[in-house]
Amino acid sequence: MKKADWIWMDGSLVPWDEARVHVLSHALHYGSAVFEGIRAYATADGPAVLALEAHLERLERSCRVVHIPLPFDRDTLRAAVLETVRRNGHPACYIRPLAFRGEGPLGVSPLTSDVRVSIATWEWAGAHHEGARDEGIDVCVSSWRRMAPGTHPAMAKAAGNYLNSQLVLVEAKQNGFHDGIVLDVNGYVSEGSGANIFLELDGRLITPPLGDSILPGITRNLVIQLAREKGLELVEQRIAREMLIYAGEIFLVGTAAEITPVRSIDRIPVGTGEPGPITRDLQAAFQRAATGVDDRGWLTPVGGA
Ligand SMILES: Cc1ncc(COP(=O)(O)O)c(C=O)c1O
Repeated sequence: MKKADWIWMDGSLVPWDEARVHVLSHALHYGSAVFEGIRAYATADGPAVLALEAHLERLERSCRVVHIPLPFDRDTLRAAVLETVRRNGHPACYIRPLAFRGEGPLGVSPLTSDVRVSIATWEWAGAHHEGARDEGIDVCVSSWRRMAPGTHPAMAKAAGNYLNSQLVLVEAKQNGFHDGIVLDVNGYVSEGSGANIFLELDGRLITPPLGDSILPGITRNLVIQLAREKGLELVEQRIAREMLIYAGEIFLVGTAAEITPVRSIDRIPVGTGEPGPITRDLQAAFQRAATGVDDRGWLTPVGGA
């Protein structure tokens, strides 16, 4: 990871190496943290943050689910994100706000531990290897299932949920795949280890509904918007595993993944085995929107000093 100069922590910027926590922080022991993954893109007018309000809203919602009262309001966090990107001088970057339970009497209950908030930024190319967005990636269907409804809150971006994602990703990589697709407890397709999934089948674009143990992805929403504008028939419906084999195109979407084509599932080529025309078209539209070439009001400029 390429270090930046500053990390915003509990209200002010501190040097990167000084943004430290105690080993007895509650979040380290019990996963009591929520976070966001946001991107700032290089635009003709300097760096600008994509879908900042939607990310801050999801952070607030995640906090409500896991009993983390955010000590900073929306305006403060928005200003903090912009200031951190600006002060670090990134032309483009990944942004990681984190709200977590720090020190306190170390038992399971988080309620008596301090709430801490940090915002780190770094220059990062993305979730997959270079070339993944052009060539596509090889995925498997994981032997792990996504958390069942009523167990972990899949709709919250809670750190504890990512133990599931880690199991999926490590298993996939150890078996020679780039990533894994996870089924929900009922055997329906939910998402990737860190991205939502879309597939094209019989001319329709299909993505699982929010109730099927998925994170409500911000990129998913943006892609739905782009697809509808292009006149594509977009449906949110349950996806049976075999639909992955029938699909003509499959792609993963997320802040880190952007739009990454899937070229094979369990070593079976998806469609022709090459990223398809709908995937390519949406990738191009997404890049234009994210970099401000196509101005849709999705970007918040970081602004001058
Ligand atoms: C499990 C999971 N699903 C979906 C996504 C995509 O969400 P977003 O588009 O908001 O980054 C992510 C990435 O944050 C994720 O970790």
